[in-house]
Amino acid sequence: MNLQLPYCFCFFLLLQLPFSTNGQAYKNVSLGSYLTAAAAIGDLPWTSPSGEFAFGFQQVGDAGYLLAIWFNKIPERTIVWSANRNNLAQRGSTVQLTADGQLVLNDRSGTRIRNTANLGGSGAAYGAMLDTGNFVLAGQAGDTLWQSFDEPTDTLLPTQNLNSGGELIAPYLEKNYSDGRFKLILQDDGNLVMYTIANPLTTSNAYWATGSSLGSGNMFIQRLLPVAKGGL
Ligand SMILES: *[C@@H]1O[C@H](CO)[C@@H](O)[C@H](O)[C@H]1NC(C)=O
Ligand SMILES: *[C@@H]1O[C@H](CO)[C@@H](O)[C@H](O)[C@H]1NC(C)=O
Repeated sequence: MNLQLPYCFCFFLLLQLPFSTNGQAYKNVSLGSYLTAAAAIGDLPWTSPSGEFAFGFQQVGDAGYLLAIWFNKIPERTIVWSANRNNLAQRGSTVQLTADGQLVLNDRSGTRIRNTANLGGSGAAYGAMLDTGNFVLAGQAGDTLWQSFDEPTDTLLPTQNLNSGGELIAPYLEKNYSDGRFKLILQDDGNLVMYTIANPLTTSNAYWATGSSLGSGNMFIQRLLPVAKGGL
């Protein structure tokens, strides 16, 4: 009879293990937190509760580091959003949620490369990588002050909107995330237009349009949730 106890105990521990690891992996990004762009053993990225998405630096060959959000649970860490696709950060650069609640990208000497999020006057109280793939900066009351979903780069995730005036630009090549040759714009007149860009500096040609011009208004397109296969 006494032998039963350790077995039960071990079983209980095994049951607990996955939950406690998840609990440790996920926490809000608190003020003062930062990540450094580094080779091999860099900082762990900021992950969503399920671990599905991560926010941090991805090394792009020898060219530098992309501040990005990616699918974190598949072998090919597919990038869904990036902050500096045309201007990679060098090793030693940091992204920080500053004490006054601004999200900034600094180079290794501490010089600000850019404010990743424009929050206007008041800073955020915390940041969070959500399971939708949206990285948000929230105010004291949990209100969203900034979200990566408002600045789509080359992909729309389920529930994400492409708002009037918004655009998606294809990456240049598979492993080169610079602006590429295709651009999809939801024009202010409501027309959704695909452009080819022969040279990003010259004028481009529209080659496909929905012709959905409706005049101005609160036009947006949304990527819908896939039909649930149990999980969602
Ligand atoms: C994140 O912060 C908010 C607001 O302070 C809080 O309600 C929530 O429980 C926190 N979540 C985690 C996982 O710490
Ligand atoms: C990506 O391609 C562009 C255009 O050829 C080039 O200027 C840039 O340096 C490339 N970036 C990387 C990371 O190779």
